[in-house]
Amino acid sequence: MNVPFVDLHRQLEPLLPEIQDAFNSVIERCAFINGPEVKAFEKKMTEYLGLAGVCSLSNGTHALALTLQALGIGPGDEVITVPNTAFPTSEAIHLAGAEVVFADTAPGAFSLDPAAAEQVMTSRTRAIIPVHLYGIPADMDALMDLAEKHRLFVVEDVAQAQGARYRGRLVGTIGHAACFSFFPSKNLGAFGDGGAMASDDTELVKKVRMLASHGREEKYTHLIKGTNSRLDTLKAAQLSICLDHLDEWNRQRRQAAALYDELLQPYEEIIRPRVPQACEAVWHVYVIRYTRRDKLADFLNQRGIKTGLHYPLPLHLQPVYGYLGLAAGSLPEAEAACQQVLSLPMFPSITPAEIQAVCEAVGQFFETEKKK
Ligand SMILES: Cc1ncc(COP(=O)(O)O)c(C=O)c1O
Repeated sequence: MNVPFVDLHRQLEPLLPEIQDAFNSVIERCAFINGPEVKAFEKKMTEYLGLAGVCSLSNGTHALALTLQALGIGPGDEVITVPNTAFPTSEAIHLAGAEVVFADTAPGAFSLDPAAAEQVMTSRTRAIIPVHLYGIPADMDALMDLAEKHRLFVVEDVAQAQGARYRGRLVGTIGHAACFSFFPSKNLGAFGDGGAMASDDTELVKKVRMLASHGREEKYTHLIKGTNSRLDTLKAAQLSICLDHLDEWNRQRRQAAALYDELLQPYEEIIRPRVPQACEAVWHVYVIRYTRRDKLADFLNQRGIKTGLHYPLPLHLQPVYGYLGLAAGSLPEAEAACQQVLSLPMFPSITPAEIQAVCEAVGQFFETEKKK
């Protein structure tokens, strides 16, 4: 059986008539920028999060960069994050003009180790960006304590985790601000690029909105140096419809993850993803660890089972960060994770039969290996 890594068509098909109607009404009015659907989506997302404000943006990278900028972070400042995240997390730090500082992940986890973060702090550190990688909440209590102790901002990277809960609270509502990506395959995905930032600090949200709209509050008067990073009206209309389905889609992802957990249990060589106590993950991707993951990936891909790598090369070893002087071995937990991670097919409408087919293929892989 062929199993796709993600099947957006299957997920979105039932909603297409409603989305097409919404598109038609945007097209009739031709308010493609800042149409009423943008405000309506922001209001809906504000209510979903239970925060004071949301500013929709053109993508998640700009959400992070503009939020840092709005916090007054820029040249001469340092921001700490993990090296096993998507490149945009660190890219946003230098887009804001600040320097990225990588700290290792916690042993056995995929998220920022508070002790490692404290070790790399300097007098120039201004913020921490915890990443709720794969939809699994980071260690927020410890990170918030650390931030308070050192008077730092915490900007949550919720790109992969919208709807996940950390000890009952939605991720994205714990730090000083949160940034979201609506890249099409994200848990809440747009028909194209999209993003948002959210905060209980309405002045911060207002400042990001200004930055994203050429530094102005009103037409023709530019108060600060900004850019253009607005969410299109068409995408806002579509995202409003999809937001109503996010919790159900996340429930389906959790169900799929639970079945993977059960069916992969017999394979001791495989480390299944762990969710911290009292947390609820939303499984943007379901990532196992295995020391010979490239062999397993090849085996699965040859049998029509598509897998992914999130991410094969830690950011501190990317050519662009050579100037940081961080050699291989300097952040061993994240490096080991990058060598071992393998993302299995995961999307809301994946069927139990498909998950079974993936796990059976994993079983066949180990059978074949045993015979060698
Ligand atoms: C963890 C993480 N942060 C940030 C981003 C950036 O989002 P975008 O692709 O919308 O710019 C992504 C998505 O690629 C991501 O996965």
